[in-house]
Amino acid sequence: MQISSNRMDLGFFKYQKEFEEKALEVLRSGRYILGPEVEAFEREFAEYTGGKYCVGVANGLDALWLAVRILGIGKGDEVIVQGNTYIASVMGITINGATPIFVEPNEYFAIDADKIEALITERTKAIMVVHLYGIAADMEKITAICRRHGLKLIEDCAQSHGALYDGHMTGTFGDVGCFSFYPTKNLGAFGDGGAVVVDDENLAKLFRIYRNYGSEKRYYNKVVGANSRLDELQAGLLRVRLKHLEEITAEKIALAERYSAEIKNPLITLPQTPANTRAVWHQYVIRCEKRDELMEYLEKRGIGTLIHYPIPPHLSEAYAYLKIEKGSLPITEHFANTVLSLPIYNGMTDEEQSYVIACLNEFGA
Ligand SMILES: Cc1ncc(COP(=O)(O)O)c(C=O)c1O
Repeated sequence: MQISSNRMDLGFFKYQKEFEEKALEVLRSGRYILGPEVEAFEREFAEYTGGKYCVGVANGLDALWLAVRILGIGKGDEVIVQGNTYIASVMGITINGATPIFVEPNEYFAIDADKIEALITERTKAIMVVHLYGIAADMEKITAICRRHGLKLIEDCAQSHGALYDGHMTGTFGDVGCFSFYPTKNLGAFGDGGAVVVDDENLAKLFRIYRNYGSEKRYYNKVVGANSRLDELQAGLLRVRLKHLEEITAEKIALAERYSAEIKNPLITLPQTPANTRAVWHQYVIRCEKRDELMEYLEKRGIGTLIHYPIPPHLSEAYAYLKIEKGSLPITEHFANTVLSLPIYNGMTDEEQSYVIACLNEFGA
């Protein structure tokens, strides 16, 4: 049996008619940038998350760097972020000239809130929380730290659309919730897309200005902004997907629950989630000391897996200038050497999942 690490086509075919109708409607409308679909999506996504305002941007990285910029964070400032994140979180900080201060993760792959305060200095301006793999971070502790130290809070929700902490959606705890709609995401577009969710009207206004060359009124530019607009076609298609997001999420939760119930192998550590959260399983990430061997073993049996992520940002070539030595974040580095993402996609059949589980349970026997 051949099982890919992901199957995005199935996500399209499930709602094919609705996607095709919407695409044609937008193509025939003559409005392609910042029109009614973007406005409607922004309204609907804000409502879905429980945030007051949503502003569409071109991708998740732009949401992050614009958030850092608009919150007034730049050269000489420090932003606290977890070591085991996708490099985009860190780029969102460094594009602005600010310095990332890395914190080790806890057993839920999230920033270890108990290790944050020791790293706060007078240069610290913000904490960037990443709800990695779709599991919410410890927002109670983190929001309390931000209040105590007067820090801004940015949430990287690129992997956590619909994830809950104490019944509230990720992206609504901090100053800015940053989302990516990259096609593999739980709420995925058919190209690049992103958005921010904010409660502050003035911040929402600033995002609208920055995403459009820094202009509120055409050809009158207030600030040096970006060309970072969500387009009408993606917004329209995202509206279709958003209508089905709870269904899409429920399917992923069911797949994750089955993995958690049926994978039984002492060589494999299963992902855990905090009790007061709803994980949305953007990825289902196991850990194994013999990870590379396991990956090859699965590959030989036709099962595709991925590593999120093999090189932690502080050890990547791009951040050699930070001069953070190998071994300085042992938990982060150990995760990079042991994590493995199993196939968990909408449309995965019972038979496919049974095969993956059987292969995993036979590994090392
Ligand atoms: C945690 C995280 N942050 C940020 C991003 C950046 O999003 P995008 O690819 O839309 O720029 C991604 C995904 O790619 C991500 O997984």
